[in-house]
Amino acid sequence: MNDQAQGLRDLVSNQQSQPPSKATRIITVTSGKGGVGKSNFTLNFALTLQKKGYKVLVFDADIGLANIDVLMGITAKYNLYHLLKKEKTIWEIVQTGYNELKFIAGGSGFQDLIRLTEEQLDDFAEQVSQLNGSVDFIIFDTGAGLSKETLKFILAAEETIVVTTPEPTSITDAYAIIKMVSSMDKQVRFRLVVNRATDWKEGKQTADKISMVAKQFLQLDIPTLGYVADDGSVSKAVKKQVPFTIEYPSCAASQAIDKLTDDFIARQTPTDNEAGAVKGFLSRMIKLLKQ
Ligand SMILES: Nc1ncnc2c1ncn2[C@@H]1O[C@H](COP(=O)(O)OP(=O)(O)O)[C@@H](O)[C@H]1O
Ligand SMILES: [Mg+2]
Repeated sequence: MNDQAQGLRDLVSNQQSQPPSKATRIITVTSGKGGVGKSNFTLNFALTLQKKGYKVLVFDADIGLANIDVLMGITAKYNLYHLLKKEKTIWEIVQTGYNELKFIAGGSGFQDLIRLTEEQLDDFAEQVSQLNGSVDFIIFDTGAGLSKETLKFILAAEETIVVTTPEPTSITDAYAIIKMVSSMDKQVRFRLVVNRATDWKEGKQTADKISMVAKQFLQLDIPTLGYVADDGSVSKAVKKQVPFTIEYPSCAASQAIDKLTDDFIARQTPTDNEAGAVKGFLSRMIKLLKQ
């Protein structure tokens, strides 16, 4: 394990000599419970960021239920699996979706990540590091709940967006995932998105419940990124396999994503790390792999 970590460390420090044009920030999107709208949120948030002038890459890291490609009606020719098997380079598995949105389809690749040899892991890290500077944001859509892989991505990323709905089961599961992750690393930054809220009030009440409990029992501040309306257009768009912000740009859910994205942009602080977040992400991955 140590040799493997050394390889990654060398790779990361080599990057320092060639500063990228701009820093890439890494965000994970997760939830306690499945089916809360994580993939729809990730995709439409990414498309909206892109519309507002940022370059975004969506990385589908949901092993069991990878479906970013399905939501766009695109059959991804290559996915992570081909990268891990060294059949393709990272640039060859990057697919292009609506409005030139770049994405990497999940496939079954992530299951293999924990079983990779040192050499394969070095290759993987080197390939991922090539993305540094090529986009402004890499957004990982992770699986629900806390699998080993999801946990590694959350712990390594700069910031994690937790998606919940106002349903009590979704709220308790969102809190459970926050509690588990923060017990392993207090530094992880979370932000909440309440999806499928009937109105603004219900969205706020849901977010308040989680942030109050997190404050009281975990001494954690969990800011809210925003609320997305429960909107029949989402399901209609899913059936058409067109992202809802593209198919129904003025529906309530699209408007909510638009506002939330503006708030997200307004609150961005420049990344501390000059060499960019991909480097930080890889360093943190090394630490996790050593454990
Ligand atoms: N804002 C919303 N309003 C109404 N229905 C929604 C909304 N978001 C998601 N859904 C419904 O929930 C389903 C599951 O969403 P999905 O993004 O695949 O969830 P996850 O990735 O969390 O499993 C969608 O197919 C859609 O029918
Ligand atoms: Mg999903």
